[in-house]
Amino acid sequence: MISIAIDGPAGAGKSSICRRLARELNFLHVDTGALYRAVGLFVLRRGGDPADPRSVLPLLPRIRLDLQFADGEQRILLDGEDVSEAIRSPEASCASSAVSALPEVRAFLLEQQRSLARQHNVIMDGRDIGTVVLPDATVKIYLTADAEVRARRRWLEQRQKGVEEPYEQVLAAVRLRDYQDSHREVAPMRRAPDAWLCDSSALDFEETVAVLLRYIREKTGVKG
Ligand code: DC
Repeated sequence: MISIAIDGPAGAGKSSICRRLARELNFLHVDTGALYRAVGLFVLRRGGDPADPRSVLPLLPRIRLDLQFADGEQRILLDGEDVSEAIRSPEASCASSAVSALPEVRAFLLEQQRSLARQHNVIMDGRDIGTVVLPDATVKIYLTADAEVRARRRWLEQRQKGVEEPYEQVLAAVRLRDYQDSHREVAPMRRAPDAWLCDSSALDFEETVAVLLRYIREKTGVKG
């Protein structure tokens, strides 16, 4: 099996870019952030504090998470309910970042991620795919962009959805998540030494896709 690990900070466009790469290459796209988001959502729904291990750990054995794939699109089911949209709320984002700092939560989700890579050719995106989940991935990429560029992209996206949020607030949220994701003790977000660094600050979506496709094809020989 071929596995492509794509890590990097929030808002670098990993999910939409990986979805497109997966379609071009005919690989399965696994968005691992959705798993952490679903755990965060579950804790919130049970009235727990996502940052408090005493609140989160007793809930873990009760979480039933399934990833399903239809036409290359990932859907995530929590206790049988499709929560693919619900996990995108700002509350679920904050909760996911908090629960992802707990080693037990990371261990809980590890095997599910690895087993997908054993069974399929995957493009897996997250924070620790190249460093922890798939250290032997065929190709590793660290996709990033300046915080200001990422905040501006998110701000525009929100505005298109009719959500007006001050840019400064979006930027502060991006910086906070970067800090939390890269300063946690377990599996912090960082570039694997053998990951190729792609900074998309000056590239648009199509340019980024083109650059990454070229790199992946060169490394794997996959034509797609
Ligand atoms: O990529 P995302 O924004 O959907 O991720 C949600 C949160 O989950 C984010 O704060 C970091 C965490 N995460 C992680 O710790 N490890 C991963 N492999 C993927 C996401």
